[in-house]
Amino acid sequence: MSDRVLVTGGAGFIGSHVCHLLCQGGRDVVVIDDFSTGARSNLQGMKVTLVEGSVADPAAVARAMDGVAKVVHLAALPSVARSVDRPLDTHHVCATGTAVVLAAARDRKARVVYAGSSSAYGNQESLHKHEGLREDPLSPYAASKLAGELYCRSFSRVYGLPVVVTRFFNVFGPRQPANSQYSGVIAAFSKALLEGKPVRIDGDGGQARDFTYVEDLVAGVVQCLDATTDGCETVNLAYGQSTTVQDVYATLCALARERLGLRSIPDPIHAPPRTGDVRHSLADTSRAKTRFGFAPKIGFAEGLRRTFDWYRQQSGKSNSP
Ligand SMILES: NC(=O)c1ccc[n+]([C@@H]2O[C@H](COP(=O)([O-])OP(=O)(O)OC[C@H]3O[C@@H](n4cnc5c(N)ncnc54)[C@H](O)[C@@H]3O)[C@@H](O)[C@H]2O)c1
Repeated sequence: MSDRVLVTGGAGFIGSHVCHLLCQGGRDVVVIDDFSTGARSNLQGMKVTLVEGSVADPAAVARAMDGVAKVVHLAALPSVARSVDRPLDTHHVCATGTAVVLAAARDRKARVVYAGSSSAYGNQESLHKHEGLREDPLSPYAASKLAGELYCRSFSRVYGLPVVVTRFFNVFGPRQPANSQYSGVIAAFSKALLEGKPVRIDGDGGQARDFTYVEDLVAGVVQCLDATTDGCETVNLAYGQSTTVQDVYATLCALARERLGLRSIPDPIHAPPRTGDVRHSLADTSRAKTRFGFAPKIGFAEGLRRTFDWYRQQSGKSNSP
């Protein structure tokens, strides 16, 4: 049987790391991407078959699905803020696009790993977010990603499609865009520090996240892809470790001092909290460990160093003092 893997959104930040790992393992990889947030350059040097098109277009998805046995479905417009600005665009890609991908996977009897989001948990009382909690989406983004999960569950029940819903928390690492108003916090902070500009902290900086280094995350995604499961299973993929935005800022400042020899760093600017943002996000990772053998190797501190160094190289400030 074919081992061809379709990666939707493969030209994106996480998708390009999934493609890299699959290619390293000698797998036959197809990517469908419309480059709305991803870039061709993210796939440079990787031997993948590229289908340019939208996951919301059944004809494009059918073309991409040719000969495919497994699907990693990552294509999305992944930003709370963007979804608050443009909720219908987010719905179209994240919810409708997921239904289209699942229908094509059903036709081919292909196994699916879906990129779910910790935003499904919202502001729950329970500190550790475990997969059994009732979902409480706060933003249009969270609602559309959860709609995708619900489609996964229903396709599994109705058509017997094997699906693993992997819930990502705050993923960071090389190739995460730093230039957009929707950039992740580690990307945005690194860029500002490298440019000698003040960092903008939304809210008081006490909001905590389970920041996960992308290489550890994608190793978990591929483990879920290659596991044997029936029905639809949901699993958190993260470190189970909570770090505040303020702590991330302090660690990046220390790295900037060490790597760039900076003596002074401009004070951060505090902006109002962002609409739709949750206060604390911390994963219970026991199911990922016991069920899928998830065992991150790199970890937060080393991941942050590698990430800062990557942005430093991109910015041309590659000489350590
Ligand atoms: N980055 C995180 O911290 C995080 C956290 C939780 C969940 N996720 C999920 O992980 C997945 C990947 O996120 P990312 O951070 O790599 O984002 P990204 O924006 O870098 O990647 C998304 C990719 O999907 C593509 N895309 C968007 N709309 C498309 C469409 N209609 N058809 C085809 N391709 C389309 C984009 O061009 C891009 O290449 C998303 O599903 C996101 O919801 C990410």
